[in-house]
Amino acid sequence: MKIVIAADHGGFELKNSLCAYLEEKGHTVCNLGTNSPESVDYPDYAKLCCSELLKGDADFGILVCGTGVGISIAANKIKGIRCALCPSKEIAALTKQHNNANVIALGGRFTSFEDAKDIVDSYMNATFEGGRHQIRVDKISSLED
Ligand code: RB5
Repeated sequence: MKIVIAADHGGFELKNSLCAYLEEKGHTVCNLGTNSPESVDYPDYAKLCCSELLKGDADFGILVCGTGVGISIAANKIKGIRCALCPSKEIAALTKQHNNANVIALGGRFTSFEDAKDIVDSYMNATFEGGRHQIRVDKISSLED
């Protein structure tokens, strides 16, 4: 898969660990930063990642900030983005199956690398179920108009 990924300073360490993990598994990772502990603003990185995803070349996006909350709120302001904060592998699978989330968010200060690997794998192994969920996802899209 092709994955776009970005983080603020609260998430860059987990983001970098995930980049290495995903590349090792053979995925193509587009790392949009940040790459240091210097303070940055998470909406800027949400925008970078989501804009790249919306170009259509990548399969999905991963965003990481300290809690995962701010960066997911910012991402969900962007038309076409359905970003889910995923604290567990179960929620990661369900948000693909039911919400067809195209971005997952993680909390770098609250989610371990071990858990993050399971969460990302679980999301990638899940499939959108369509049907009644498609109707609901379409209604989410209609809220953007
Ligand atoms: C940055 O200190 C922190 O506020 C940010 O990473 C995130 O947790 C916001 O929701």
